[in-house]
Order: sequence, then structure tokens, then C-alpha cells
Amino acid sequence: MDTINWADLSFGYMKTDFNVRSYYKDGKWSEPQVDTSEFLNIHMAATCLHYGQEAFEGLKAFKGKDGKIRIFRMRENALRLQSSCRGIMMAELPVELFEEMVLLVVKKNERFVPPYESGASLYIRPLLIGTSAQVGVKPASEYTFLIFVTPVGPYFKEGFKPTPMVILREYDRAAPLGTGTFKVGGNYAASLTAGEKAHKLGYSAVLYLDAKEKKYLDECGPANFFGIKNNTYVTPESTSILPSITNKSLMQLAEDMGMKVERRRIPEEELSTFEEAGACGTAAVISPILRIDDLAENRSYHFSKDGKAGPISEKLYKKLRAIQYGDEPDIHGWVTIV
Ligand code: PLP
Ligand code: COI
Repeated sequence: MDTINWADLSFGYMKTDFNVRSYYKDGKWSEPQVDTSEFLNIHMAATCLHYGQEAFEGLKAFKGKDGKIRIFRMRENALRLQSSCRGIMMAELPVELFEEMVLLVVKKNERFVPPYESGASLYIRPLLIGTSAQVGVKPASEYTFLIFVTPVGPYFKEGFKPTPMVILREYDRAAPLGTGTFKVGGNYAASLTAGEKAHKLGYSAVLYLDAKEKKYLDECGPANFFGIKNNTYVTPESTSILPSITNKSLMQLAEDMGMKVERRRIPEEELSTFEEAGACGTAAVISPILRIDDLAENRSYHFSKDGKAGPISEKLYKKLRAIQYGDEPDIHGWVTIV
């Protein structure tokens, strides 16, 4: 424990002391239970293993200069998990239970919350899985919900330095009327081939186009896309994008800064008009985009002349981080102090 180098953390798994669990059986969720094991003992015919009945969440806790621990927008994650549960027919977890368990797991693992100065945070990973044995394709009758935490640094190793991203037209992440708007494991399995190909080619993420027409911008790796032009924050609207809580927060902050906000379909060609572009999410925070290459079409869009993030992306990034770490007042009521 004494050997954790907080400043050098990457976005990876590290064992912490405790996780918390609740079990759904006979129509009821159990009281939260604290566990020290990193393992689950589940039936080999559990629906999560065969039919992908699993959803997860991702949120973060931050230690402030004042020593207090702040959790960012956990109610939003609780609501999105409920939406995922409805999306793939799992028992819905009550919002209050989600919040109680997030607070409990952070308190129990307080010593793993990185210090303010490190710029790192505690990643909180809730997971809900179907556990009852089934061979026919139908929803489970029993579920396990658990939350573990792990201290993390930046998702993209470059941090706030702009990186290149790529359009790979031969892959889709999610279908227009599929599960893209839910945070379910299948979407991530579906993105692995394209993601690995992008990494091998030197890109940090794939910018997906809509699966139907291959015309409009969609999800951006494990994050949402945004572009900036004419004092306007523009982000794609689609039926296959995960509603990012970071993006929702940035839209509010952009508005607070006097910018216009547009959430609408964005044709790929419009990329050439953006002054700045970025990917945003809990893990990614804001990852500025250096350049986007559409390989099949042999086209490139550039967003940074000097290799640095643009001024508006930087302002949004600083503002968001300041609220999360408690350096600035939480005027929107986004933060829960542990
Ligand atoms: N899109 C995808 C596919 C994601 O996995 C994530 C991460 O959670 C996001 C977007 C960003 O969402 P949020 O800002 O709520 O973390
Ligand atoms: C997040 O930003 O919380 C994510 O879930 C992204 C990725 C690690 C799956």
C-alpha cells in the first residue's frame, strides 16, 4: 500500500480492501454486504455468461484540497443503470440502494482515494449480472449487484494531450435500434476488434459512424464526441450513443460559459468546420482530438495546429475538474461529499 505511486497510476485494476454486494432473489434485493474476496462463485449456466445479461457503470471519487472525498453525479449513474436493466430485462436496482452502496464502498476503501495533488481519482465500478441458471434464452430470475473500486490515472496515457482518432468504416459498434444507449458488456465486446486495430495503427480510439447510413458521427470509443465552432458546443444525437454524464455536464458548463449548445445529427463532412474536437467520459474526462483520419475515404480532419488542446476544451476541462475536486463551488448540486 505504501508503495502506490499515485502520480504514475494508469487506468488499470488494482486490488483494494473491500467490495460491496447485494443479491436479488424472490423479487427482493438483499441488504448490502461487504466482501473481501475479488471473486464471484456463480452457476455455470448463469445468464450473464451465456446471453450477456450484464450491465455496468463507471463513476469517480476525488479527494479535495480540504481532504474531503467527493463523488460526482452518482444519481445519474444509478438512473442510467436502471435504464440498462430495462434495456436487457434485468431486475432494476433502486436508486437509493445504488447510492448507499457507492458511499459504503468508498468509505470502506478510503485509503485508496488518491491524494489531491496527484490528479488521480478513485474509479467506482458497479456491475449487475443475471446469475440464475437458464439454457433457454430468457431473463434470469436472480441477480447479483456489486461495486468495486480501484485508484486510476488517465484513460489515454497522453492525458490532456491531443491524440489522433480514426474512422474505420468496416466496423459498427451498435445497431441503430440495438443496445448502444445501454451500458452493457456486449457493446464493448463488439468494439474490441475495431479498437485493437485502431491501437495497432497508432490511434487512441475509433470514431464510429452511424451504422445505417455511415454518414453521421456516432460514439467515440468509450466516450462521446464533441466539437467546438463559433462559440458553440456541438455533440451528436443518435439512437446508438450511450448518454454520457460527462457530456451532459460539459453541455451545462458550456452554457454557463455563454456558449450555445447543439445536440443534433452531425454529418462527417462537418468535421472540417470544427475549431476543436474531443472525446469525453468518466474515464476519458476530456481527451482532445488531434486529428481524425477516415481511412477508407482517404480524408483527414485536423483540430490542433501546435499539438496542444484548444482554449475552449481546456477551459471546460479545468472547470469540470475544479468542480470534481472541490476547488470551485458545486452550483449545480453534482457532488456528494462522503
Ligand atoms: N460512451 C461509452 C461507450 C462509454 O463507455 C462511456 C463511459 O462511461 C461514455 C460514453 C461516457 O459516459 P460517462 O460520461 O457517463 O462516463
Ligand atoms: C467510463 O468512462 O466509465 C467507462 O466505462 C469507459 C471504459 C473504461 C469502459
